[in-house]
Amino acid sequence: MHSKQNAYFCLQIVAKNYQANYTILLYEMSKNISELSGRKGLQENLFEELGILAKAEGTPTKKDLEKLSDEFLIGKANVYGSASFYDFTREENKGKKIYVCNGSSCMTAGTQDKVHQKIGEHFAANEIGEMCCLGRCHENSSFYYDGKNYSGDAIEQIEKISKGEAKPTDNYHVESLGTPVLTEEFPGIDEFYKVLADCLKKTPNELLAELQASGVRGRGGAGFPMSFKLESCKNTPSVTKFVVCNADEGDPGAYSDRYLLEQRPHAVLLGMIITGYIIGSSMGVLYIRGEYPESIDIIDEELQKLLQKNLIGENILGSSFSYNFKVIRAQGAYICGEETALLSSIEGQRPEVRIRPPYPAQEGLFNKPTVVNNVETLACVPWIMREGGEKFAAIGRGKSTGTKLVSLDGFFNRPGIYEVDMGTPLSVVVNDLGKGFKNDIKALHIGGPLGGMVPVSKINDLTIDFESFNQAGFLLGHASVVCLPKTFPMIEYMEHLFQFTAHESCGKCFPCRLGSTRGQELLYKARTTDYKIDKVLLTDLIETMEIGSLCALGGGVPLPIRNALMYFDDELKQYFK
Ligand SMILES: Cc1cc2nc3c(=O)[nH]c(=O)nc-3n(C[C@H](O)[C@H](O)[C@H](O)COP(=O)(O)O)c2cc1C
Ligand code: SF4
Repeated sequence: MHSKQNAYFCLQIVAKNYQANYTILLYEMSKNISELSGRKGLQENLFEELGILAKAEGTPTKKDLEKLSDEFLIGKANVYGSASFYDFTREENKGKKIYVCNGSSCMTAGTQDKVHQKIGEHFAANEIGEMCCLGRCHENSSFYYDGKNYSGDAIEQIEKISKGEAKPTDNYHVESLGTPVLTEEFPGIDEFYKVLADCLKKTPNELLAELQASGVRGRGGAGFPMSFKLESCKNTPSVTKFVVCNADEGDPGAYSDRYLLEQRPHAVLLGMIITGYIIGSSMGVLYIRGEYPESIDIIDEELQKLLQKNLIGENILGSSFSYNFKVIRAQGAYICGEETALLSSIEGQRPEVRIRPPYPAQEGLFNKPTVVNNVETLACVPWIMREGGEKFAAIGRGKSTGTKLVSLDGFFNRPGIYEVDMGTPLSVVVNDLGKGFKNDIKALHIGGPLGGMVPVSKINDLTIDFESFNQAGFLLGHASVVCLPKTFPMIEYMEHLFQFTAHESCGKCFPCRLGSTRGQELLYKARTTDYKIDKVLLTDLIETMEIGSLCALGGGVPLPIRNALMYFDDELKQYFK
């Protein structure tokens, strides 16, 4: 065996053992912190306090952190560990006033140098920060200022924006091809919530059977059957249970969850209420990314309307079922989209990924049984309950039932959010819905940073469903599409993916923490000097990340790297020995 291969093989074994011992030790520690944090429940929340304290200066002061540590009876190191983790609470965020998007779509569009330059005319360099993906991928040139997101031509108005004299606009195309499950017209709250009254007359088991019949699988990336999770949580005895909506849509290029939260918020909220009724929970938590300020505002407003109509709160519609919501504003960390990191985040712990088992359905938020589902998954539930599980299962293909939202970025002639029946050819999405490309494109990065790099030559081979992508060696993920123009060097994009992983790694396991940085260094060196990469070394590195990483961040980034090496050898061979 090659000596470097040998070294990596040993590293893989060490990584696995280290991971097992270290994580078991940490599991017991973090379980105790979960209990402590849970004493105050959700109304007085440590994580929320950190965000509030950071608001004034961009980071909480040392004194603030000590006070929090005393109030919550949680060690100073733990509180500091949390505050120093997030982009918007860590010390480096101090004094930041305006943030430029550095997500993959704005990067490949090449719009951000101009955004930086224009902003630099009105703000000092130390007032300008970065945010990773504002979900304005349809027109790019994105930036965040004073609780609002801007994109497209808005940068031309920066002077007025900085004086509070111009309002943001946000227009993108939305269309359904096939059955409009998620994009159907909203008939108003009273009409839409009629199905809730029907649901409350049925037993949780009857509703669960409907979900089982629908075959709906998680839309957050993994495609796990929703009903399995609900059944497991329902059967776990506990007085307190939670439904958590994962609205941390961090995949650059994806803005379909943003669309649902802002334009179809009641599909998500009602989906959570019905899920709560099924599992026996009276509390729903929406964890919404801070990069989507408008989503948070809209959800808050719509919740007020529901409260007034007794569609949430105590004894909903005169029944014995009560349900309340808590909205949590996230603070800028991609890893918080991973469900266990998300739960630790809500608890105010440093959001490190947890080992499983136990799964959140048995031991989740504050150690209580918890269902975590993606925004889009939950938004399917009202339709399934109204129209029936069988009808949902009749849409789609094989085990990929129902519809899927697809996000198309600014390289399409008609960017936007498209709802298609699962099984729809990718070529139909690209050509008929997106109306083809504005520029010469060489690859589509589909499914976020951990998704596959699809060369344009493969477009005709794929259909929008989990199986088609898996069989072809790609990943449907959340179905976001970021285009790579022919002019964008593939090596630079690969480096960007490693860099993204290094920045977002929770640091719990070293194949991801170190591997992502080493990968970035290798590619950077080859791109900027005469250095030639040893291909065996790079493939050993990504194999170690794949095998030794605890979660799908370190374990997932090798996929697009492998795809790039496989399909873009002609372009990349100049960088290898
Ligand atoms: C690094 C990483 C980031 C993730 N980000 C998200 C996310 O932003 N939104 C989401 O719903 N799921 C995300 N997931 C998947 C979640 O861990 C989890 O599978 C999902 O929330 C479950 O909901 P679903 O079954 O409805 O898809 C991520 C996973 C990983 C490993
Ligand atoms: S793979 Fe990366 S993000 Fe996931 S647990 Fe390991 S260090 Fe954390």
